[in-house]
Amino acid sequence: MNLSEIIRKRRSIRKYRDKDIPREFLQEILQDALWAPSGTNRQNWDIYVVRGEKKEKILSNMVLAAEIFKPTLDRLFPEDVVKVTLNFFKNIGGAPVVLLVYIPRYTYNLEKEMGNKEKWDIEHDRITSALSAAALVQNILLLAKEKGLGTCWMTAMKHVEDQINTEMGITDKELISVVTIGYPDENPRAPRRKGEKIHWVGY
Ligand SMILES: Cc1cc2nc3c(=O)[nH]c(=O)nc-3n(C[C@H](O)[C@H](O)[C@H](O)COP(=O)(O)O)c2cc1C
Repeated sequence: MNLSEIIRKRRSIRKYRDKDIPREFLQEILQDALWAPSGTNRQNWDIYVVRGEKKEKILSNMVLAAEIFKPTLDRLFPEDVVKVTLNFFKNIGGAPVVLLVYIPRYTYNLEKEMGNKEKWDIEHDRITSALSAAALVQNILLLAKEKGLGTCWMTAMKHVEDQINTEMGITDKELISVVTIGYPDENPRAPRRKGEKIHWVGY
């Protein structure tokens, strides 16, 4: 598959085979993914590769996340989709490994009246770090696809971030994303891509 095919054929996988991934295989993917760009070359991300008992302990918090997220899903999707999504929250589709992606913890207050410049002065470190981590995560997703693995990028875990951080013994970082990874046990249809998003100006 060339890059364009990998990008188009990658899907969020929510059902995995009961098959472990060798550490060296994951190491290869993550080492390549770490060549992602980062704002002012900060590279201030950390990836925790979690499996086994620790993974199960982290997942035990997801029941609460599912409860918190349910009203939002009810508003957006039909009943059957809500059911599948909430089940996935609780068992991550049997994925053997979760990747927890962290950035440093930044604290600040924003006021509604602030202008763009004032906001950016305060927020830029956190936003730039989050965007850089997103580039890293997308690399992971595409490299995994290239190697026959499935992934799902998740932020639902943010609802129970405090519990996860306590479980991980992490106090100085923000959990920015979670990626489930494993051998896929489904071949989902591509959700429709929405509307016209490319705006040509002076072209
Ligand atoms: C930032 C981000 C957060 C996401 N969080 C979740 C999540 O918490 N749970 C989930 O099931 N999918 C999550 N997804 C996956 C999206 O639902 C999915 O990418 C989208 O529906 C398009 O489907 P596709 O990935 O198969 O193209 C997330 C994706 C992104 C980029």
